[in-house]
Amino acid sequence: MTPTLKTPSSPPQKPKQTPPSTPPTGGFVSPRIALVFPVIQEFKKKVTYDPLEVTKTWNGRDICQYMGLTCDTVPGTNRKGVTGVNFNYFNFSGHNLTLNDFITALPDIVYFHANSNNFVGSIPTDISKLKYLKDLDLSNNNFSGNFPIQVLNSHKLKFLDLRFNTFAGLIPPQIFQLNVDFLFINNNNFIQKIPDTIGLTKARYIILANNKFIGGIPPSIGNTSNTLLEILFLNNRLTGCLPCEIGLLKKTRLFDVESNYLTGPIPHSFQFLHKIEALCLARNNFYGMVPEAVCSLPMLFNFTLSYNYFTEVGPRCRELIKNGILDVKMNCIADFPDQKSSIECAFFFSKTHSCPNEKSFTCSQVMYSSAKLESSDVRFTAPATTPMQAPRWLSYDALFPRNVINTSMYN
Ligand SMILES: *[C@@H]1O[C@H](CO)[C@@H](O)[C@H](O)[C@H]1NC(C)=O
Ligand SMILES: *[C@@H]1O[C@H](CO)[C@@H](O)[C@H](O)[C@H]1NC(C)=O
Ligand SMILES: *[C@@H]1O[C@H](CO)[C@@H](O)[C@H](O)[C@H]1NC(C)=O
Ligand SMILES: *[C@@H]1O[C@H](CO)[C@@H](O)[C@H](O)[C@H]1NC(C)=O
Ligand SMILES: *[C@@H]1O[C@H](CO)[C@@H](O)[C@H](O)[C@H]1NC(C)=O
Ligand SMILES: *[C@@H]1O[C@H](CO)[C@@H](O)[C@H](O)[C@H]1NC(C)=O
Repeated sequence: MTPTLKTPSSPPQKPKQTPPSTPPTGGFVSPRIALVFPVIQEFKKKVTYDPLEVTKTWNGRDICQYMGLTCDTVPGTNRKGVTGVNFNYFNFSGHNLTLNDFITALPDIVYFHANSNNFVGSIPTDISKLKYLKDLDLSNNNFSGNFPIQVLNSHKLKFLDLRFNTFAGLIPPQIFQLNVDFLFINNNNFIQKIPDTIGLTKARYIILANNKFIGGIPPSIGNTSNTLLEILFLNNRLTGCLPCEIGLLKKTRLFDVESNYLTGPIPHSFQFLHKIEALCLARNNFYGMVPEAVCSLPMLFNFTLSYNYFTEVGPRCRELIKNGILDVKMNCIADFPDQKSSIECAFFFSKTHSCPNEKSFTCSQVMYSSAKLESSDVRFTAPATTPMQAPRWLSYDALFPRNVINTSMYN
């Protein structure tokens, strides 16, 4: 009556030798679940440290009841499968606890969350065969090796969180062609120039902070103006001047380049950052006058310029200082308290500093197109009022290793 059920995607290398007394789905709600059961049991053996005693719940055939696993209907089928893994904060550890033979043996997963565990090794090369994978959160583990280039073939991926690991070396330029909304690679050891392909990204949130990126910010960043909401470059080794194309970022709320080796004045095009709430340029070698038009931006809530070489602030900027929005501590502003010593300032200005593009054709083009946009798109911006309540920026939350970013709150 019941023919031996064939699991649709059983591994091809497994020859069919099931004794007739135990059909493969015996006791399992679906063949997809039967397939995953031995994978979980193998993984359980590798977890030797489990302070929350999670794996103690991993008994019996109903793996959908196991803590950390979620079952749901597999997309495009009417079968139940393990569609989600949530190991956040489990502190799993073990000798050589890798993802190998585990994550890629869960063919139906849509999300894999594993913040704050002790996984080691690199990301398995065949991860791209997980055709439903949307969320991959491997933050705050001990992964190492190069950027897992294989994820570039994960076409469904929307959330990629590799924060707080020890990935090193180069990021492939194609990383910015991934179709993700969230790209968090902060707190690793990536050492290289930021690829020009950054202009191709559709990500809304990008965090490159606390790595060792060198060179300049690519002008192509201006091409992300329809999507980019928050970007953090802070604490890298970036050099050069701010490209005026940054002024094209008409949707961006957060832009932070603190603690780099950037120089030059604030480009006048920054006056077109109409949605900017937090603008942090602290701890670099910026100089010149703080543009009054930037101090007049309507949404500006936190404007930090401390530890640079700015020399002048006009009346509008002084008002922001009074309101606690603008911080110009440790600059070279003659009539202000808490400034650098005149010797330090004189030494800095005894050397020539210049930005090649300050008066360039590109910058006038940027100013022209932004101004045109302003008169069409955002003609009716609210008058400059300070928001009553501090906005919350997702990207700053992501600078703490044990903060988990719940994407469903940002759609
Ligand atoms: C998990 O590890 C973190 C960091 O090592 C530690 O602070 C925390 O107390 C651990 N939690 C448990 C339940 O052991
Ligand atoms: C750790 O496990 C991986 C994959 O299972 C294996 O390739 C590697 O040789 C192991 N390393 C050690 C040190 O045991
Ligand atoms: C992971 O890295 C941390 C900090 O570097 C270290 O204390 C811990 O022992 C490592 N865990 C494993 C399993 O290697
Ligand atoms: C934006 O992309 C267009 C073509 O796609 C290119 O011509 C232009 O130079 C790019 N802008 C920047 C600032 O790179
Ligand atoms: C503004 O941001 C800086 C970091 O960029 C932070 O140290 C400071 O506390 C913030 N100020 C306000 C008023 O939120
Ligand atoms: C994320 O937020 C949603 C909606 O607020 C909530 O239903 C869900 O449980 C949260 N997920 C996690 C993993 O915290």
